[in-house]
Amino acid sequence: MSTNLAEARTGSGAHVQPTGGGLGADILGVDVANPGEADMAIIRQALLDHLVIRIRGTAIDDPAFERFGARFGELLPSPDFTRSRPTYLRDAPNVTVISNVTEDGKPIGEHGDGELHWHTDLAFTDTPSALTMLLAREVPPTGGNTSFTNMYAALEAVPQDLRARLTRLRLKHQASHNAQGGKRPGYQDIETDDVREMPGPQHPIIRTHPESGRQALYLGRRFGSYIPGLPLAKSEALVEELWSYAVQPGHTWAQEWRVGDLVIWDNRCTMHRRDAFTGLGRRRMHRLTTRGERPV
Ligand code: OGA
Ligand code: MN
Repeated sequence: MSTNLAEARTGSGAHVQPTGGGLGADILGVDVANPGEADMAIIRQALLDHLVIRIRGTAIDDPAFERFGARFGELLPSPDFTRSRPTYLRDAPNVTVISNVTEDGKPIGEHGDGELHWHTDLAFTDTPSALTMLLAREVPPTGGNTSFTNMYAALEAVPQDLRARLTRLRLKHQASHNAQGGKRPGYQDIETDDVREMPGPQHPIIRTHPESGRQALYLGRRFGSYIPGLPLAKSEALVEELWSYAVQPGHTWAQEWRVGDLVIWDNRCTMHRRDAFTGLGRRRMHRLTTRGERPV
């Protein structure tokens, strides 16, 4: 069917083009400033099918970004303690900023210019984010790419006997330390570096996606992971083994940012990481997240 015919039948111009990597798809032909319900249905389905979607060449202001983001679920920024300030943008209070830029000596956003190791957002909370959306406002000429990995595929790579065992195990996602190893506010008194004692929620290692119904491996972050009930050495060995299934070359795809790129990922079935870009230039991302559910 030609594109025009498809448009006539569905009332939508949206077109989905897979990246060819282990996950991810571009959405073409959609006006993010004012998408119709038919476009939204195609975009939501593409996100379920491809786990990460990208819309290039957007030219929307922050309130329009918020309005678009809210069509995917209830917006809920990361908790205050993960941010340097409660509100960044007066005209779009749900938008947070990920940036290495400083103004008057102070960072305008989070995460600087260093590498961000593989993780999935807010896994160390009871109800981790469902979706995260990054809109590129400024990017360096090279560097700061964001990679994604497919956690449905990761689970498929786990041998059957181990998979059966995993259904009976949970993973503790420690909450006290951030990705840089510093202590989060509220956890200043935690002195332990023993992962068995670090506080944090326990989530199933295999979780079921509430919309797709598919099962995915759910690891959160390598640092501080512990499988309660196992001796430390056994937990470490099993966690290492699980990570070896998680990040395999055929399961990944890397986003090379251009200004105007809007990327949306599903934290319930993917992980992501970012390359360092020290000395490579200014990078400023506007970010939205949606409320998630307790992993089951
Ligand atoms: C995030 C994140 C990666 C990046 O916002 O959750 O991990 O590329 N960002 O900035
Ligand atoms: Mn993240």
